[in-house]
Amino acid sequence: MKKVRKAVIPVAGMGTRFLPVTKSVPKEMLPIIDKPTLQYIVEECVASGIEEILFITSPYKRNVEDHFDQSFELETRLEKNNKLKELEIVKKISKMCKIYYTRQGEPLGSGHAIKLAKSFVGNEPFAVLYGDDLMKYKTPVLKQLIEVYEKYDCNVIGVQEVDKNLVYKYGIIDFENGDKIKSIVEKPSIEEAPSNFAGLGRYIVKPEIFDELDKLDKGKGNEYQFTDGMLNLMKKQDFYACKFEGTYYDIGNQLGYLKANIAFALDREDLKDDLTKFLKEIK
Ligand code: UTP
Repeated sequence: MKKVRKAVIPVAGMGTRFLPVTKSVPKEMLPIIDKPTLQYIVEECVASGIEEILFITSPYKRNVEDHFDQSFELETRLEKNNKLKELEIVKKISKMCKIYYTRQGEPLGSGHAIKLAKSFVGNEPFAVLYGDDLMKYKTPVLKQLIEVYEKYDCNVIGVQEVDKNLVYKYGIIDFENGDKIKSIVEKPSIEEAPSNFAGLGRYIVKPEIFDELDKLDKGKGNEYQFTDGMLNLMKKQDFYACKFEGTYYDIGNQLGYLKANIAFALDREDLKDDLTKFLKEIK
């Protein structure tokens, strides 16, 4: 069985749910306290054993590249001013992992974005992490998916139960038996939903996904949907759910973003006491 060594992170979407800030700042670069969301996701990859990452970016997301690149001038100044703690924080970013970039000329959907990773991936299984789906965990969520891949030698989707009233927002999993997946129903009504387990932005797929993405027609929203590619591959290969432990935050919407900031801040020794006091005061 081939090891999962590579990850693809699509970040070329328009972020329309988070306008106006996303007019000039990619939602994936919005900070959770003082660190961009994407850095947390890269850290999750590294902690899961990923060696190489490909970002699918766009002409409007240059600061993604700037953030993960070496910043010679800043590093020199920090060193000169003896700000060694800050220097360490900045230096660490560009050394975390081998990072590559390719651009999606037009935001034609997640399926179209991931298809651009074909030559980077080659003939290996690989991970896909959505750049606006943030996880808070004890064991890295991607690592939990890799364990399922290694157990069954299969494609894997990271899933969790969601509130029954919110199934209409997600791709809902139809189980065959145990954790084996039969199908995914996109954004169903409560009545149509085959379960209340949703796919939440973490996947491991085999390279045959590219044959399916090549053949894909436009789907929901007149975009090429990654889920449609997976549904076609499901007819030929096994998919298993990884019911992961951890908390999921969709930072692509305002409430999810605010919740993530508070949850991560309450974990920080330097912030938690004052923040707790403040939250009690403003209630
Ligand atoms: P989303 O559907 O959450 O992103 O895609 P979006 O299209 O930016 O969202 P809204 O609805 O307009 O607010 C999940 C991930 O896939 C990327 C996004 O950047 C996000 O990280 N994506 C989406 C692409 O890279 N290319 C696309 O064409 C669409």
